[in-house]
Amino acid sequence: MTLALALLRLFLGLTFIYAGLDKLIDPAFLRAAGPGSIGAQLAAFTRESPLSILVQVVAQPFPILTGLVISVTEIAIGLGALTGLIFRLSATGGAALSILFWLTASWAIKPYYYGPDLPYAAGWVTLAVAGPGGRFLLDGWIASHLELDPDAEPMSTERRQFLHGGILALGALALATLGGTLGAAVFGRPNGGTGPDASPSPGTGQGSDGPTAAPNGTVVGTVAAMASQGGSLYFQDPQSGDPAVLVKLSTGKVVAFDAVCTHAGCTVEFDPGSRLLICPCHGATFDPARAAAVLGGPTNVPLASLPITVDTRTGVISLSG
Ligand code: FES
Repeated sequence: MTLALALLRLFLGLTFIYAGLDKLIDPAFLRAAGPGSIGAQLAAFTRESPLSILVQVVAQPFPILTGLVISVTEIAIGLGALTGLIFRLSATGGAALSILFWLTASWAIKPYYYGPDLPYAAGWVTLAVAGPGGRFLLDGWIASHLELDPDAEPMSTERRQFLHGGILALGALALATLGGTLGAAVFGRPNGGTGPDASPSPGTGQGSDGPTAAPNGTVVGTVAAMASQGGSLYFQDPQSGDPAVLVKLSTGKVVAFDAVCTHAGCTVEFDPGSRLLICPCHGATFDPARAAAVLGGPTNVPLASLPITVDTRTGVISLSG
């Protein structure tokens, strides 16, 4: 039994530390907008999560801070599971965070058993109820190395918990700082790259000027530019700041969609072979010929359509409205 609990602690602890570090190292994550950013993910959550209002009020105004808090909390919870320090609080935190992820990031995954967060929550609840299991715990080592004076009165439970919490917090902050520094050094996260303007529009074909205002709306591309890009063209939606994509259907009609995947906010890519929009993160597939209806993958929410007009004389495509 204690070995089983130790294995569960090992798996969940390492997974949460990895998840926290991965977010900090990923150069795209800690940004307010753009493909793979926490800002794009929060925007996706507001479209379908039952916690939409909470996300809009609490998290969306502070996307970078939200991303940082989630990352450091994941690392602290993972360390708590591995070391056994303030264990039940760490396991309860792991359960709460997993349920939060289920209600946001995994909510669109149908059927629910394809989503990862409920099983994580079940694992954390098991640890919170069962405790650390008495093996591979750091508190014994701390007692022998940090509670130095053997003649002193034994430390009270509150003081001991406080000490353990402090060690855990310091460890999490040190690891997070290391991960963030590594992300900036190795992957070159751009300084100040946290606003919508800083996010690249993949495959845009519009040059660096981006969409331009025109009397009938905002010009986002031309039919000729689409042809040179294999039938699609990316641009940045000036209203939402999201990446968006124009697709020329086999009928010749041009359609436009918000390119932020309705699962967890990655940017979908146009596949010229199948003429479908496919998410590189978890494989959600959308059919542009059927209003971006979902053909497969962990979401059942189509991409948002964007209204456009095409000037048949000049081939200029504008966002209307
Ligand atoms: Fe998961 Fe697109 S973000 S399928």
